[in-house]
Amino acid sequence: MADLAKLQIGENSYEFPLIKGSENEVAIDIKTLRVTSKGVITIDPGYKNTGACKSSITFLDGEKGILRYRGYSIEDLAEKAQFLEVAFLLIFGELPTKDQLTQFHEDIKDNAIVDDDVRKIIDAFPKSAHPMGILSSLTSALTAFNPSSVNVDSEEEMYKAIVKIMGKLPVLVAWVMRKVQGLPLNYGSKSLGYVENLMTMMFAKPNEEYTVNSIVKDALDKLFILHADHEQNCSTSTVRIVGSSHAGLFASLSSGISALWGPLHGGANQAVLEMLEAIKEDDGDTKKYMAKAKDKNDSFRLMGFGHRVYKNFDPRAKIIKLAADQVLNDLGISDPILDIAKALEQEALNDPYFVERKLYPNVDFYSGIIYRAMGIPVEMFTVMFALGRLPGWIAQWREMRLGKEPIGRPRQIYVGQTYRKFKNISQR
Ligand code: CMC
Repeated sequence: MADLAKLQIGENSYEFPLIKGSENEVAIDIKTLRVTSKGVITIDPGYKNTGACKSSITFLDGEKGILRYRGYSIEDLAEKAQFLEVAFLLIFGELPTKDQLTQFHEDIKDNAIVDDDVRKIIDAFPKSAHPMGILSSLTSALTAFNPSSVNVDSEEEMYKAIVKIMGKLPVLVAWVMRKVQGLPLNYGSKSLGYVENLMTMMFAKPNEEYTVNSIVKDALDKLFILHADHEQNCSTSTVRIVGSSHAGLFASLSSGISALWGPLHGGANQAVLEMLEAIKEDDGDTKKYMAKAKDKNDSFRLMGFGHRVYKNFDPRAKIIKLAADQVLNDLGISDPILDIAKALEQEALNDPYFVERKLYPNVDFYSGIIYRAMGIPVEMFTVMFALGRLPGWIAQWREMRLGKEPIGRPRQIYVGQTYRKFKNISQR
């Protein structure tokens, strides 16, 4: 392939270099377009064809259903690694040695205490508040309790900010759930692993001994790995664009959490379970919901289906489907919702509407079923996704700041009124 792209606008022609990625993806570098063409820009709503950055964190091939973190396949990582190892890999680029992992975990534990005044903020929320709204607010509030912004030229300061948020976010996640359930806010124990500690903080009752169930712990660890990064998705792009104004890490993460909340993004895991429940209440009539999803006059979509990038099976969905079967089996739970999900999947995979549009189950289709089996309330599902995605957001924020990327500031094509003379109120 030639290494230049040519563009003809009227009588003028322009040449732009092509950029090639390490997996041979190609982009046209149009950085000079607006200046050389005297004002022409590109437009691409939803950024369907727009690369916002170069990144060496996550590779995904949506046609082939490939997902890799720093070169390692998601299948290998989900089977062989622990969440904290994957977090280290995403953020710092290499799998940690045993010593590095121990040190990383120690530093996270040393930074897990949340200022006690945060409890007062939690107290002020109504019990009916959605956990994602509380989490996003609390993450933003952490900025106020940790006001100094990170000097990105200092490895040490960057590291401190990273272990702080890796330590404090699980505490906030647990407190958000306990607030909604009316349970006292607590801490786990430094003697526990990262995920074990989270579970203890979430589930321990004040009047009984809590023992971590290893099946649940392993499944949660795996879910976090599967959610840990997914290149330039909506929430990650939000984190990068907010951070590009040199807003701090915690403020950037708080915006990422808000972006994740939407039902077209991470909020889909809650929406999927609500949809499956509705189908169950409707005598398991999957055909009715399939018809609704295909009806262009009905805004209903089959939640947990389709993906902007995957036009093949989402590799994470394959792993989660197996894990759902295994977790329910191991815990001795029979959930009719799982059968409805499987029936719906089969119908969609054999339906021309879904086949032609290459709509397959995505990561959110089965994850809620596992969360429910673990005893996690449905409004907390997206919060769990956020905690899993934390290392990815941090890694992307760090890459963007270290790469000295310019402030994110798209252009537009104005289609509003041209100049109008102001009319006084009496003349309108
Ligand atoms: N049910 C029914 N039709 C669908 C669905 C669906 N779930 N998803 C896409 N379509 C149709 C859509 O109507 C359009 O049809 P047509 O070409 O006739 O107009 C076509 O498929 C292409 O859809 P699109 O909306 O242009 O695709 P997109 O890349 O903009 O949207 C998506 C991707 C994930 C937002 C969308 O598939 C969707 O809304 N899915 C349901 C929500 C969901 O599960 N989201 C989680 C995504 S994965 C995890 C994450 O990102 O956090």
